[in-house]
Amino acid sequence: MFARRTEWNLAANRYSLAVEQARSLEVNGGRRLLDLTASNPTTVGLHFEGERILRALQHPRALEYEPASKGILAAREAVAAYYAGCGVALSAERIILTVSTSEAYSYCFRLLCDPGDEVLVPQPSYPLFAFLADIQDVKLVPYELVYDHGWQIEFESLRRAITPRSRAIMVVHPNNPTGHFTRHWELERLNALCREHELALVADEVFLDYGLGNGSGDERDNATAEPPLSFAANDAALTFTLSGLSKICALPQIKVAWIAASGPPALVYAALDRLDVIADTYLSPNAPVQWAVAELLATREGIQRQLRQRVQRNLRELDAQLAKAKMTSRLEFDAGWYAVLRTPSTRTDEETAIALLEQESVLIHPGHFFDFPGAGYLVASLIAPEEDFREGIGRVLRAMDE
Ligand SMILES: Cc1ncc(COP(=O)(O)O)c(C=O)c1O
Repeated sequence: MFARRTEWNLAANRYSLAVEQARSLEVNGGRRLLDLTASNPTTVGLHFEGERILRALQHPRALEYEPASKGILAAREAVAAYYAGCGVALSAERIILTVSTSEAYSYCFRLLCDPGDEVLVPQPSYPLFAFLADIQDVKLVPYELVYDHGWQIEFESLRRAITPRSRAIMVVHPNNPTGHFTRHWELERLNALCREHELALVADEVFLDYGLGNGSGDERDNATAEPPLSFAANDAALTFTLSGLSKICALPQIKVAWIAASGPPALVYAALDRLDVIADTYLSPNAPVQWAVAELLATREGIQRQLRQRVQRNLRELDAQLAKAKMTSRLEFDAGWYAVLRTPSTRTDEETAIALLEQESVLIHPGHFFDFPGAGYLVASLIAPEEDFREGIGRVLRAMDE
């Protein structure tokens, strides 16, 4: 009865079974789990301007129905103002609102790909891409990121991955979970490849504001560092830059995201005409939320400050503990909410993560979730509450040394 694209293997794997069991033990009075996978910003003890957020959702204009395909102008202008703050002049005409970055991806895939067409994706990266692509009948073809005192694109592997069916190169800037920004020289080479093979760039910038050099409040030395440039300023190839309030304002439940289009004007306008029809068919974003966008964006400074402070403090704690650890180190990164740990690769990451769960009551992501090359990687969330982080990382490092 069902389409082949939905033939997913939905059986629980060993890791998810172990998580389920550990959670049920905890609920039944067992040892408390220390969650180093915590990535929901609404449940890690941050202070949100609750009243201001709720008030913003009560705009009187929300009582009117205004079917604007790209989203209401006031909301798109607020997004354009966000980019102006990032140093990018972008007209509201080039912005299309969606309810999530995931929906923004699906619009881009619908715009660019016929069934079976290919999109090039970085590896390691964010695991949701596989499902997004399946649902849109798009084939993901990985290209490699390599680590050598920082991550970078392995351009030979990218070039090899391009076929006549390739339609776009995806970039996550900064990448999740490796936390590295695309460098200027990489952007130039990406643009050259896109022009040579008539490909579009799709850049996911949900963590753009969380550079370690963006000033944490604690880190005075870094407070004046320049923020990295956004792909929304790229005009050398057709580029779709995706972001949204789920990370910018730490409000994933509000469901506001967007696509910003840039590139050679003729291509941009042709793309926008078509995206307009796709967006008009769904008219996804609701009125109360759209009328609130400007005010919600205005709350970002306070919440971002708290998140940067949390990340910096947990990172300092991690580094202090790593200085005494024998078997674990961490990879360098520029931005984001995660630290990648390098651990002994004597067993699979899944086995390591299960052992940590069962023996230490610590929940941590195995690297294979993100398609790291080979074993020996764990991913720890740096936005976990500080007490849990300190104790949880201590248990992980001790277990690795034993
Ligand atoms: C790289 C990346 N892109 C997109 C998203 C999801 O964003 P949204 O909630 O807007 O769909 C996430 C969420 O963690 C993410 O890590």
